[in-house]
Amino acid sequence: MAKILKGKGQGPLFIALIKYWGNIDNDLRIPRNDNLAINLDFIGTDTNVSFSPGFKEDRVVVNGKALEREKKLRVIRVVDIMRKRAKINWPVHIFSENHIPTASGIGSSASSFSDLVVAINKALKLNLTKKELSLMARLGSGSAARAIPSGFVLLPGNCSQSEAYARTLFPPSYWPLSIFIIILSDAQKHTLTTQGHLGASTSPLYKERQWGLKERLKEIIKTIRDKDIWRLGRLLEAEALSLHANIMSQSPPIFYWSPRTFRFVKDLVDYREKEGYPIFWTIDAGENLFLLTVPDYEDVVKTFISRHPEVKKYYLTHPGKGPR
Ligand code: PMV
Repeated sequence: MAKILKGKGQGPLFIALIKYWGNIDNDLRIPRNDNLAINLDFIGTDTNVSFSPGFKEDRVVVNGKALEREKKLRVIRVVDIMRKRAKINWPVHIFSENHIPTASGIGSSASSFSDLVVAINKALKLNLTKKELSLMARLGSGSAARAIPSGFVLLPGNCSQSEAYARTLFPPSYWPLSIFIIILSDAQKHTLTTQGHLGASTSPLYKERQWGLKERLKEIIKTIRDKDIWRLGRLLEAEALSLHANIMSQSPPIFYWSPRTFRFVKDLVDYREKEGYPIFWTIDAGENLFLLTVPDYEDVVKTFISRHPEVKKYYLTHPGKGPR
């Protein structure tokens, strides 16, 4: 029987506080700006990999379906770098299951690339450090680099390729925030982020956004250090609006918000301002959302969400570790 090497990985979701949008190098996916996220105690993807000289060819199957050519090549590029490192040329079989709707703005590609590199690291016994795993995951999806370390993580941008890996700023236990993942729709986004990053700098707002980000990053880190939910929440929303103003005004424009998103955000903001509860929203590249609050307000949020007509499903989670 042909030899077989197997490995498993489980990748976390994250909530991005300072968003990564635009690259200084599109091929190497080096972000234009420093970006910051909290890795969550919520597994977005499970991945199993096996390498064997007995396999005929590379296979990549996600949720039971073979990936189409372009997407498969993106995965195999990362596999090839790791195969080279292990000095092995055996074909690979990859089976991934997403536990959240794929490509709907909740970070399935980041969680899959983070657990892919972890699974291959185990299968090929590469013993890579977290730094090396983060550098490799980044080549699949820039934000996947951030999904490797634990807790509150920073991925530097505008730097050399070897510096563009994520580091932990605060461990998950530093501030046990409550994060809700809000699913308004399972539909896949119309424009992948890889495409979106390419047009980022065509927005007339891009330069201004980049200037402002340095200050916003400093302030957000300070609010985390001080555990100031009101200040963090206000900055989180300002950042999401700045990101989407850029996205909607780039060429060609991209509209990730749907009427459902607008309705939900408006109702949430009205509710918060009326009641004075610290509940804040953010959104990435898709119509679904994240809410941020502190544990005392979890029940209030649950009640609000479960009564809201646009919500299909939600998950409550907290800061967590990187992939296992
Ligand atoms: O890693 P990518 O190429 O899927 O880009 C992620 C972009 C955003 O989710 C919109 C922002 C972020 O920082 O995660």
